[in-house]
Amino acid sequence: MKNYFVILFFGFLLSCSENNSDNNKLLLGDKIYSKNCIGCHEQGGAAPNLTYTTLELSGIIAIVKYGRSSMPSFKGILSENEIEDISYYIYKQKKNQ
Ligand code: HEC
Repeated sequence: MKNYFVILFFGFLLSCSENNSDNNKLLLGDKIYSKNCIGCHEQGGAAPNLTYTTLELSGIIAIVKYGRSSMPSFKGILSENEIEDISYYIYKQKKNQ
């Protein structure tokens, strides 16, 4: 029984060290998307469907950070890390990559 807890503990440590893994970015990106983007980019909002974007990752990051016409800037609203996560998430959802 004791060994079982030791194994569990190391498993927990291991999962912590993978904090910045791609999967984690996608999970966080998904959360940020539902909270900050979905209202305009889906559900009848006026903004384009992001799965059809042709932008590269760096272009997505730039637009999320600085905005473009009626797309608001998220600098100061989301942290640098959050902007990276959400941009990576959008990039990975792209239909034609
Ligand atoms: C207030 C409404 C609104 C919100 C909230 C919003 N957007 Fe947008 N977004 C827009 C509009 C409108 C455009 C089109 C801008 C243009 O025509 O230049 C756009 C464009 C974009 C583009 C460029 C797409 C392309 O292919 O050119 C990206 C990327 C984007 N948004 C990402 C996001 C992300 C990520 C979030 C959440 C963090 C978000 N947006 C939240 C309104 C919004």
